[in-house]
Amino acid sequence: MERVRTGIDGLDEMLEGGLPRSQAVAVMGSFGTGKTTFALQFIQQGLKQGEKGIYISLEEDQESILGAARSFGWELAPYIEQKKLAIVKLEPNDAKTTITRIRSELPDFIKSFGASRIVLDSVSLLNLLFEADHEKRSNLFNLIQMIKRTGATCLMTAEVNDSNPNASRDGLVEYAVDGVIALRYEENKERAEVQLTVRVMKMRRIAHSRRVKPYAITGRGIEVHAAADAF
Ligand SMILES: Nc1ncnc2c1ncn2[C@@H]1O[C@H](COP(=O)(O)OP(=O)(O)OP(=O)(O)O)[C@@H](O)[C@H]1O
Ligand SMILES: [Mg+2]
Repeated sequence: MERVRTGIDGLDEMLEGGLPRSQAVAVMGSFGTGKTTFALQFIQQGLKQGEKGIYISLEEDQESILGAARSFGWELAPYIEQKKLAIVKLEPNDAKTTITRIRSELPDFIKSFGASRIVLDSVSLLNLLFEADHEKRSNLFNLIQMIKRTGATCLMTAEVNDSNPNASRDGLVEYAVDGVIALRYEENKERAEVQLTVRVMKMRRIAHSRRVKPYAITGRGIEVHAAADAF
C-alpha cells in the first residue's frame, strides 16, 4: 500500500509512513482540537512535495483559511496563483446548489485540476444538508467513492458526538471512510491542564500503532510526540 505523508512526523511514524494513497480518512475531534490545522498541514505537505490540492470548506472562507495557514508559517496564496491549490467555499445555506455542485462538478474538477490531495472541512456540516439519515448515508458513501475513483487521497474533518468522543456527530463517517484518526482533550487533574492526544482508531489494510500519543499545536502546526506516552 503506497503512503501519503501527512506532514505530521510523529503521526506518519504511527502510520508506518503516512495515509494510504487514494483512500479516504477522517480526522475526528471536538472544537479546537486542531482538525483544520491538520487538514492544512496535509495540504501544505503535498504542495511542498509538488502535489496539487483542493481544500473544500463549508465553514471558513478563503481569507480565513489563508490566514490560519499563515499563522503556522505556510504561505498558500502563491500556490493558488500557480493553480496548484484551489480553495472552494461551499455555502451550507444554499443546500440545493451545493449538493448539485458537488455531484456534478467535483470529480471532473479534481481530474482537470490534477489534485492528488482533497480536504473536506467539515463532513459534519456537509451532512447537515441532508435531513433523513438514509440520505446522509448514501450521499456520504457516494461522495467518498467518487473522490477515491479519481485516485486522490481524501482527508475529511468530522465533529464528534458530545456524549461519546469515539463517535462522530452523526455516527456515519467512521464507517464510510478507510481510516479514522481521533484528536482529543484529556484532562490531567493532577497537573491542572488538558492534554491533547491522538490515536489511530482505524486504518484499513495498515498495521498502524494503537498507542495514544500526546500532541501540541505550535506556530509550526501539529507536532505529535511519538516518543512520549500520553498516560
Ligand atoms: N498559530 C497557532 N499557533 C499555536 N496554536 C494555534 C495556532 N493557531 C491555532 N492554534 C491552536 O489550535 C486551536 C484551533 O485549531 P483548529 O482551528 O485547527 O481546530 P478545529 O478542530 O478545526 O476547531 P473547530 O472545530 O472549531 O473548527 C486553537 O484553539 C489554538 O489552541
Ligand atoms: Mg476547524
